[in-house]
Amino acid sequence: MSYKDTLLQPIKVGPRVAPNRFFIQAMECNMEDETGNPSEQTTERYCELARGGAGMITLEAITVTRESRARDNQLAIMPQNEKPLTKFVERVHEANPDTLFVFQLTHSGEISNPNFSRRVTPNPLPGYGGDLLTEDDVDRIMDSYVTAAKIAYNAGADGIDLKLCHGYLGSQMIRPHNNRDWKYGGSWENRTRFPYELMERIRKEIPDKNFLIGSKVSAWEGFPGGFGTEGPGSPIMDLTEPIKLIQGLEERGASYIVQSAGSPSITVSLTQVDKNIPYYAYMHQYWAKEFKKAVKPETVIIGSNFSPFRNGKNGLCAVTEEESNLLNYGAWCLENDVCDMIALGRQSFADPYLPKKLAEGKEDEIKYCMLCDKCLELLIQQSKVGCVVHEKWAHEELVKTRKEKGFLKQKHT
Ligand SMILES: Cc1cc2nc3c(=O)[nH]c(=O)nc-3n(C[C@H](O)[C@H](O)[C@H](O)COP(=O)(O)O)c2cc1C
Repeated sequence: MSYKDTLLQPIKVGPRVAPNRFFIQAMECNMEDETGNPSEQTTERYCELARGGAGMITLEAITVTRESRARDNQLAIMPQNEKPLTKFVERVHEANPDTLFVFQLTHSGEISNPNFSRRVTPNPLPGYGGDLLTEDDVDRIMDSYVTAAKIAYNAGADGIDLKLCHGYLGSQMIRPHNNRDWKYGGSWENRTRFPYELMERIRKEIPDKNFLIGSKVSAWEGFPGGFGTEGPGSPIMDLTEPIKLIQGLEERGASYIVQSAGSPSITVSLTQVDKNIPYYAYMHQYWAKEFKKAVKPETVIIGSNFSPFRNGKNGLCAVTEEESNLLNYGAWCLENDVCDMIALGRQSFADPYLPKKLAEGKEDEIKYCMLCDKCLELLIQQSKVGCVVHEKWAHEELVKTRKEKGFLKQKHT
């Protein structure tokens, strides 16, 4: 089969069908209005992604409470946001009724921005901190997640992604570093109470199986006591818990898992592989393959970090450009049981129309991500995010940001 045929094959996700193997990653754009509702610019961005023909799109991290924001202008999902979110989803579905559109629910916990949010933590990491979460706090936060899932359902979304990656609250709860002796920490059973009970409660509240439940999981956070390590104090990778976690999520109704890694405020190049180390992306494909081996064939595993492969001009000199370009290598991963779908993050900023261009035989018109990571710079600086190489407004936003806030020295979110 040609790589085009492989990538454009439909796939079942639970009882639903994604029309092809392209999955658009959650990508925060920090461009909402002051109440956390989607702005016109947000709406247009997601309509463009839908018109671009991806099989499945994830909405960027949407916060379940206002006080748990990492970004000043972050999307929010509370009862007052339901109406605007409903109109927003209608517009995205109108743009392309075949694309599945899921919401990534989050709470930033310890990486909530203290300038406009309340930092809370199950167990502080050195240099972070915040108020220690009580069991009552967590019970309330979980109620907010369940409410948010119902709002997503009422708004017409096709599902939710429970964010258990990148150092946000979901990861903070499950990592071995959460070794406090409390209902939500210490033992494996206690650390997984948060995601597992959430999955169960969401499925019970929304019995409609057409509403998909999934999760994005960091396989290894890459610091002592992070998720995917041997235990508190050890940085050594051990996939025992990540594998157990995704199997537990699957048992509770997850029909898809997005594989990721790292915790960008600490290990940013693990999450978003850098152009100087493109081969780090191969670790992601290793984790995706380990995930795939661990779940039932019908559970969809979505692999990440395909943006670094670009048009083959990626510095991976032991392979030809043709073999190592995003399309060819992505199809190879699908054919070799690495994953079932290919996730596009930074690449989706560079060209939302990649899937459509491939389908129409216009591959030479695809605009590739240069891995300049200026989108990340914009995000860290709390500016509106876009592709500074291919979008004029985003380039202007970068110039304005640097004038006002200076050059960014460190790339950590
Ligand atoms: C500007 C920016 C915003 C991001 N926002 C999110 C987010 O909201 N949720 C999430 O899970 N990951 C987020 N990520 C991480 C990406 O979804 C993805 O995991 C990462 O960029 C690697 O994929 P890529 O190589 O295709 O870019 C973000 C990354 C960037 C650069």
